[in-house]
Amino acid sequence: MPLYGSFVPSLPLTSSLALFTPQPTDWAFTSRINFAQLTAGGGWAVVTGATDGLGLAYAKELAKRGANVMLVGRHPEKLDMVAREIEAQFRVKADMLVIDFQRCSLEDYLKVKDRLSRLRCDILVNSVGMASGSTGSFGCQSNTEQMCLDLLNVNIIPTLMFTNAVLPGMKERKRGVIVNLSSVAAVYPLPNYALYGATKSFVDFFSSALDRECRPFSIFVQCVLAGPVLSNMTKSQAKSFFIVQPGPFVREALSQVGLRRRTFGHWIHAVMVSIAQPFPLWMTLRFLQPKNRS
Ligand SMILES: NC(=O)c1ccc[n+]([C@@H]2O[C@H](COP(=O)([O-])OP(=O)(O)OC[C@H]3O[C@@H](n4cnc5c(N)ncnc54)[C@H](OP(=O)(O)O)[C@@H]3O)[C@@H](O)[C@H]2O)c1
Repeated sequence: MPLYGSFVPSLPLTSSLALFTPQPTDWAFTSRINFAQLTAGGGWAVVTGATDGLGLAYAKELAKRGANVMLVGRHPEKLDMVAREIEAQFRVKADMLVIDFQRCSLEDYLKVKDRLSRLRCDILVNSVGMASGSTGSFGCQSNTEQMCLDLLNVNIIPTLMFTNAVLPGMKERKRGVIVNLSSVAAVYPLPNYALYGATKSFVDFFSSALDRECRPFSIFVQCVLAGPVLSNMTKSQAKSFFIVQPGPFVREALSQVGLRRRTFGHWIHAVMVSIAQPFPLWMTLRFLQPKNRS
């Protein structure tokens, strides 16, 4: 029996392009969600990991579309700088919530819940994530125990806690958008990314079930299975045609909110997976495996 003969991605990925290509009903590929309308009258977008990379790009893009933004991160100075920049540039309110997810207790999360319950949160973007220290052969790193805890605490727990904090309000108002950042590594078992990929698989699966729970409340849950995006996380990777800038990536992913519940986010990543997918799994994995700068 071939070693990978029975490989099935965590959720069917029958056609990668189908995750991205507009369906006949998605005419003109425009979003059914109007963010300005959704947040009109003082609604907020809460963005975790908002000081850099994709989170920062989401915060800016949503502010541009009229949402007040609550920036969540661990460095007050960085958060303050981003908040001031957003307020000056987009004439919306920007507030900040300082929290280090690597050192977060239950009490800290209860405080977060209390603070968010006093906010009209119409959009939640769960972007915070880390890969550092987790790449390489599992078990061979110097401090695997700490790395396991850090990855679960940063890549999984905040998504659950922030979603839990904003959902009651969204359900009561019968509207809202939740965007969860997963990864292509969630559906392809990339060697040397075992733990990172597993945390992203969790986010993917959680999002799919959550989406079904939320549909009766007109809450749209989108899971973004991003390919490589230029950020601190990928700066050590070799240059590649498939690496996208955070700004264009986020604009394209947001244009699919209301249309695509599970998406690669950017067409380049859909093409990347489509090229790799028809081949035997070992070849697909070799193609998708991030390459470091030599
Ligand atoms: N970049 C990619 O190619 C790629 C591909 C697929 C999926 N993703 C996913 O997309 C999301 C964003 O990734 P990114 O590339 O934008 O990463 P990034 O540039 O490294 O940004 C991560 C953000 O999370 C914050 N953060 C990290 N650890 C934290 C902690 N312990 N407590 C509070 N905040 C913390 C960082 O704050 P500081 O500024 O303080 O460090 C930063 O704002 C992640 O979930 C990632 O898994 C990324």
